[in-house]
Amino acid sequence: MVTGIINFKGGVAKTTSTINLATALQKLKQKVLVIDTDAQGNVTNSIGLQYEDDEKAITTASLMQNTKLDPLKAVIKGKYFDFIPNNVFAYSRTNGISDSQILSKIIERLKPYYHHILIDTPPYLGLDTANAISASDVMMIVTDFSKGSLTGIKVLMSVLDKWHDKAVAKKFREKAKTVLFTKYQKRTNISSQVVAIVESSSNMGLLLDEKIPYSIKVVEDGYSGIPTVISSPRSVVAIEYMKLAQTWITARDSKILKGSKSVINL
Ligand SMILES: Nc1ncnc2c1ncn2[C@@H]1O[C@H](COP(=O)(O)OP(=O)(O)OP(=O)(O)O)[C@@H](O)[C@H]1O
Ligand SMILES: [Mg+2]
Repeated sequence: MVTGIINFKGGVAKTTSTINLATALQKLKQKVLVIDTDAQGNVTNSIGLQYEDDEKAITTASLMQNTKLDPLKAVIKGKYFDFIPNNVFAYSRTNGISDSQILSKIIERLKPYYHHILIDTPPYLGLDTANAISASDVMMIVTDFSKGSLTGIKVLMSVLDKWHDKAVAKKFREKAKTVLFTKYQKRTNISSQVVAIVESSSNMGLLLDEKIPYSIKVVEDGYSGIPTVISSPRSVVAIEYMKLAQTWITARDSKILKGSKSVINL
């Protein structure tokens, strides 16, 4: 199953959720591949590796630019999961490409080797995000409780509607079936109000029960490069990401997402 992790708002924990979900799935004996489509190369950096100086690394962007490259050769066997890195150098080489289907073709080659492929996306619409939408079976909208996070989804929709490839907006509406809340603070009114707003304004696709609490440990883990599900397996953050992984395995096996509605009501 290919999952695109998305929100136009930056800093809502897309990358943190991608890394922890991938690690959690791996712990549950799933074969997992993470594809970084963000030119910031955040997945790579967040697990303690630096590719930003390495112009020669085979990246998501270089695969998209040169379709003769074998995607399997780009896969890095990381400590916690397999991944394909990205960086700014590679990204600049994708200028001029306008095909939203390239990533889908790349992923076709990789699919037989993995139970789950997670695509981490940047907080804006560009070629990479459009490709991630096209290539995903399902989109997980990640949102925190900051003011702009939910409007990020609305902005995403209005920009998508103007994207030159009209099929992308349609696909997003069909595939945006789940919302994951992050940096949740149970005791604050805002958190429960935002959840209520999303519940009432969405089409009631799958609002995931797992809510990832706010925890300073997650910020520290971002620096040390160890996913929280490994560094603090008993923390509520880790437990919630492990539950999410279990839900995702069920989603893949029983295809519970297939009949469910999109959360997009715009
Ligand atoms: N549950 C959490 N509690 C506290 N801080 C968190 C939590 N999850 C993520 N963070 C922190 O929030 C910041 C942004 O997280 P992250 O990089 O995952 O967001 P993002 O959506 O991928 O950002 P971008 O849009 O720039 O790619 C990081 O400093 C991260 O450590
Ligand atoms: Mg990110």
